[in-house]
Amino acid sequence: MKIVRTTAQLQKAKKELSGSIGFVPTMGALHHGHLSLIRQAKEENDHLIVSIFVNPTQFLEGEDLDAYPRREEADIRICELAGANILFMPTIDQMYEKDELCIGAPAIRGYILEGQKRPGHFDGMLQVVMKLLNLSGATRAYFGKKDAQQLALITQMTKNYFMDVQIVACEIVRDEKGLALSSRNVYLSESEKERALCLSRSLKRATKMVMSGELDSDTIMKEMRSVLQEADEVEYIAIVDRAFKALKKVELGNTIILVAAQVGKPRLIDNIWI
Ligand code: PAJ
Repeated sequence: MKIVRTTAQLQKAKKELSGSIGFVPTMGALHHGHLSLIRQAKEENDHLIVSIFVNPTQFLEGEDLDAYPRREEADIRICELAGANILFMPTIDQMYEKDELCIGAPAIRGYILEGQKRPGHFDGMLQVVMKLLNLSGATRAYFGKKDAQQLALITQMTKNYFMDVQIVACEIVRDEKGLALSSRNVYLSESEKERALCLSRSLKRATKMVMSGELDSDTIMKEMRSVLQEADEVEYIAIVDRAFKALKKVELGNTIILVAAQVGKPRLIDNIWI
């Protein structure tokens, strides 16, 4: 595995690869959620590139940029064992100039739910993903459904900008109790971890209701809110279609149910695709 830290090195190393390239961009502190994307990319392509970059432009003032978990040595080992050909770990200076043109997330889809809670977050996320996709020369790039809105916006960006890359949506990986894996879970104490299970429990309850024929969004969201009482603060519960338009009634095969809540220090997100 080649570890490259400059964009020039990456572009040179990538030219030496012939065949398809699978690419997994991450911010590091790798867990089994990341690993499932990495394994899928490895399986479906001739070569695998992973990037680790804690992107400052997608963190808002006062968010956890400085405290974001960093575990370089362990991450390198994981990528090596997973069979990555190239691991790209740039510095901020490599990725950004002083006065850059920006990509704006779409007015509505980019500024609801996560985008409303974290205004500007998706602009920064799209900016870095555009850079990383261009640098990697990926045939396919892999993203988790865990960040459903991020995935939808990246897919839209590649379409709007006619980018020649296939975006692959990967399933959410959970621990044995149902908690969706996240790098931020390291902030949770054991008792908070137990309480955090109310997010996935609320989604399971919603799924059960849908399966037994209840399709009314308000009724489902009300029930979810009661399950979410163990959270310190519920930020949003939403039932939307795959294009993130709010749904009055669940449409089977076209619905995402999302929840965001604070438990202890971190805010957690989870969702289910129905
Ligand atoms: P990060 O949070 O490190 O996540 C990297 C990728 O792993 C994302 O596509 C995310 O959706 C996926 N992922 C995280 N937890 C997952 C889980 N439990 N199951 C399945 N997939 C999971 O998302 C980012 O980084 C950044 O915004 C990035 C796209 C790298 C741009 O900076």
